[in-house]
Amino acid sequence: MRILSGLQPTGRLHLGNYFGMMQPALQLQHEGEAFYFIADYHSLTAIQDAKVLRENVRNLAIDFLACGLDPEKAVFFRQSDVPEVTELSWILNTVTPMPMLENCHSYKDKIANGITPNSGLFTYPVLMAADILIYDSDLVPVGKDQKQHLEVTRDIAVKMNLAYGEGLLKIPQARIREETAVVLGTDGRKMSKSYGNTIGLFEDEKPLKKKIMAIVTDSTPVDEPKPIEGSSIVALYRLVATSEEVAAMERDHLSGGVGYGDFKKRLWEKLWGFFAEAREKRAEILSKPGYVEDVLQDGAAKARAVAKKTVERVRKAVGLG
Ligand code: ADP
Ligand code: TRP
Repeated sequence: MRILSGLQPTGRLHLGNYFGMMQPALQLQHEGEAFYFIADYHSLTAIQDAKVLRENVRNLAIDFLACGLDPEKAVFFRQSDVPEVTELSWILNTVTPMPMLENCHSYKDKIANGITPNSGLFTYPVLMAADILIYDSDLVPVGKDQKQHLEVTRDIAVKMNLAYGEGLLKIPQARIREETAVVLGTDGRKMSKSYGNTIGLFEDEKPLKKKIMAIVTDSTPVDEPKPIEGSSIVALYRLVATSEEVAAMERDHLSGGVGYGDFKKRLWEKLWGFFAEAREKRAEILSKPGYVEDVLQDGAAKARAVAKKTVERVRKAVGLG
């Protein structure tokens, strides 16, 4: 079974990225042949500064490895090191109906937020389809917000197969982990870079503590019972604490007598401990110059060999060359 996923290098990783996409992807690397990549072509639709893009790509690679991506098990690479994907993307564009792209929520949301779209942003899901289809992927672990893009991918594959022959492209399945579909941010909304409410994976101790202590709460007095539903503190604690610890925190909410400051301290301690091993690994990776680039180059060579075969097959099927 081939498992594939990608992450855009648009900024430092936060808990939403980790629990929504990365942790499930890392668990899956033991269940099949995983292909994970850094979607740098995609991020050109938003980042137009070469230095920033290069830094983001490097940081994402380091962070992904620090979190447990095992280059012995998974093929880890930069999307743009396999330029064949842009050729497949073009061919897929020619069977993709415009209305299908016009209907994509993530595109509509961006426009609604006042972004002037470039045509790369519009055809973003087609490049994503090419990412997935070029590696004959079976399973694609993604966050809930990518669900529609997976439906578009499947539609495009079906259209290609109808036009050019059954079995030309493999139809992939999405894997969305429902229990952490939406990780809440420090203000109670979905954690997202665009809301400025994120908690980073590798923030330094002091600023991280400050962020946790500043999580927005209601003004229930210490003695009174506190709501569990909708609480970012409880929701985040569930991700990093044991079930006994979570039960104790819930009990203390319902009985009253414990203040929000206490709950935040408990959250801070578990969170800091949860990523301790990853922080150590990160330091170790940073001490080995050239290591990250070697991993990415090695991954690119393996990925490219697969991609070339698919593109060759598709070129033949559509009548190119
Ligand atoms: P952001 O919203 O901060 O810009 P991205 O859109 O770059 O994050 O998300 C990258 C990946 O992380 C996607 O697979 C997405 O589904 C997942 N993800 C991002 N934020 C969250 C969240 N708050 N809860 C669950 N998954 C998330
Ligand atoms: N669009 C995805 C995101 O924003 C990143 C991505 C690009 C991706 N290509 C992909 C994810 C292929 C899974 C499969 O998170």
